[in-house]
Amino acid sequence: MKTDMQQGNALHQSLYEDSNLLALVRNHKPAKPLYIIYPDRITDAARNFVGAFRGTPMYAVKTNPDAIALNAVARGGIKVFDVASLAEIKLVAQNFANAEMHFMHTIKAPEEIHAAYHDYGVRHFVLDHEDELFKIMRETDLAQDLNLTVRIALPKNGAALIDFSSKFGAHFEDAVDLLQKCRPVSRSLAISFHVGTQTVDPSRYGLAIDYCAAVMKAAGVSVDVINVGGGFPVNYVDQPNVCTINDCFDAIDRRLAEHNLSHMKLMAEPGRVLVANAAKLVTRVELRKDDLLYINDGVYGGLFDAAKWVETHYPVAAISCDRPFDGPRRAYRLAGPTCDSLDMMEGPFALPADIGMGDWIVFDQVGAYSQCLRSDFNGFGAYDTVCVYDHIQR
Ligand SMILES: Cc1ncc(COP(=O)(O)O)c(C=O)c1O
Repeated sequence: MKTDMQQGNALHQSLYEDSNLLALVRNHKPAKPLYIIYPDRITDAARNFVGAFRGTPMYAVKTNPDAIALNAVARGGIKVFDVASLAEIKLVAQNFANAEMHFMHTIKAPEEIHAAYHDYGVRHFVLDHEDELFKIMRETDLAQDLNLTVRIALPKNGAALIDFSSKFGAHFEDAVDLLQKCRPVSRSLAISFHVGTQTVDPSRYGLAIDYCAAVMKAAGVSVDVINVGGGFPVNYVDQPNVCTINDCFDAIDRRLAEHNLSHMKLMAEPGRVLVANAAKLVTRVELRKDDLLYINDGVYGGLFDAAKWVETHYPVAAISCDRPFDGPRRAYRLAGPTCDSLDMMEGPFALPADIGMGDWIVFDQVGAYSQCLRSDFNGFGAYDTVCVYDHIQR
């Protein structure tokens, strides 16, 4: 078992020790939030995805842009990256020479398009509006080697944690128009959607394929690639038996076959399903007021998704500083460290009745949308990272 300790994001010392969580926490007595990252679990999830998906998956870098995650995903066989900004492009380029990147933010700064194309060799761009097409053509000097993707907006998805079509995507008529306009300037033309993150109903993918089929038929132009986006779910405490990626892929394949579209090249942009289960976050209780525990991390830190606007129910465990816990669990609310009253996590979180100041609370499944959402608000941005490798294989 091998672990590396990072201070913030800069690797500064290596530790070789027992990865047992209890021992780790009791030995280090973390005073700052501490991530424990399991890169091999990311690699296994990526390998699993590659093995089950008949198309080409690309990793949605935004989900967890840490170099540890990028490299773990690549070891699992995912070597194409969905990037949303020039910063993500630079990050991928630093880690992988000549990696294929798809600039999948529909609304990009002209300077970023320019740099992506001219400095980083990006040839895949998404759009959902004709002004963006104009921007892409202008910034790439009317390039002849573009691969464009038209992102469509889907009807509202109640089976998702967050619906992704309210902000981005072209509606039916606009999508038809865009496919027609993009065809002559695209080497390879794609259509894409995002059913919404943590979509627990696989039929949503089938419905999205129906929608794409109708748009493509109305457009009357050939489309080479169908990109089924992300949204693949993981089991959380309150959603213990969500559909598998295979259920989603079956739904996609069945509908493609029904529309005679099985010949199309398939792509996907998974994020959460690859990394969510590969990290824990150790936080410390700084004070207790009855059922309210004030901890040293919160919604402006690594627990944004535990806030009331997302309410992800992360599994929690308690580690005592100096004694065995006694008695049953009870329900708690949690408060983050900042002065903002929005920095609350209502849970409820089931923790020992006698938990208190100086004990630790460990959140599981924080590998997605946690580290990358941290801010320095109120000066509470600092954290540490420990990597635990299940197999010694680096
Ligand atoms: C364009 C795009 N693709 C893929 C993803 C990854 O989605 P998920 O984590 O639900 O798989 C996101 C998430 O924000 C996204 O915006």
